[in-house]
Amino acid sequence: MRSARGVFVLTGAGVSAESGVPTFRGGGGAAVWKGLPFDVISSASMVRSNLPEVWEWFDYRRGVLESCRPNRAHETLAGWQNRFERFTLATQNIDGLHAEAGSRGVLELHGNVWRALCLNCDGREDLRRKPSDVRPPVCDECGGRMRPDVVLFGEMLPAGVWDEAADGSAASDVCFIVGTSALVHPAASLPLAAKHAGAFLVEVNPEPTPLSNVCDLALRGPAGEVLPQIEF
Ligand code: APR
Repeated sequence: MRSARGVFVLTGAGVSAESGVPTFRGGGGAAVWKGLPFDVISSASMVRSNLPEVWEWFDYRRGVLESCRPNRAHETLAGWQNRFERFTLATQNIDGLHAEAGSRGVLELHGNVWRALCLNCDGREDLRRKPSDVRPPVCDECGGRMRPDVVLFGEMLPAGVWDEAADGSAASDVCFIVGTSALVHPAASLPLAAKHAGAFLVEVNPEPTPLSNVCDLALRGPAGEVLPQIEF
């Protein structure tokens, strides 16, 4: 860490588990909606077939997140952003907790649950500034119907965000993989790009993942306890 010029961090649901945010697959309580597995209710086809149901699901998730605050893992990563020539923080989380902890330029690979995206003009708006009882929300710009600004199963990641993350991982000397089961692609391929570029890979997760065997170091414990102990 002391000699690193570029550091890349990929986070997943586990980094928010200690804030009370349910994870999807590993410890901390999986999320299922009305008996529907999350990869069904969170799918592109659902937006086409039943947008109101999709909004009900994401309104429920926002309700769960309302009382969640950043934990020491988020705070530690925010504290690292000025310590390197190049620091890239990419997250699969849609909870906005990294930014709330003070991280700037967070690459939100899967979008953000606090934003809406217009199906007509692609305009984006902060949901906290819109009436919560109008569903689907209406675009201020064009009057179009809006959907959650979250990447759903079967959809591409936002191109600009992906390119920046790919650049950051390929230019890193140290890459951290924090709180992700590394099962969902293409996000899970980012640490492999870092490894390919010669980076030192560190996994922070109480449980092993499919990436564990390519890591140089695996720190087995909760991110909120492990990350603050990394001193350099
Ligand atoms: N600290 C670190 N890691 C933790 C903690 C913790 N306190 N608690 C749980 N974990 C680990 C689990 O062991 C598991 O490996 O976090 C991981 C959470 O995995 P998932 O629930 O699969 O979440 P994630 O990898 O972020 O999922 C990827 O899948 O459902 C989609 O779009 C959704 O972004 C999500 C993507």
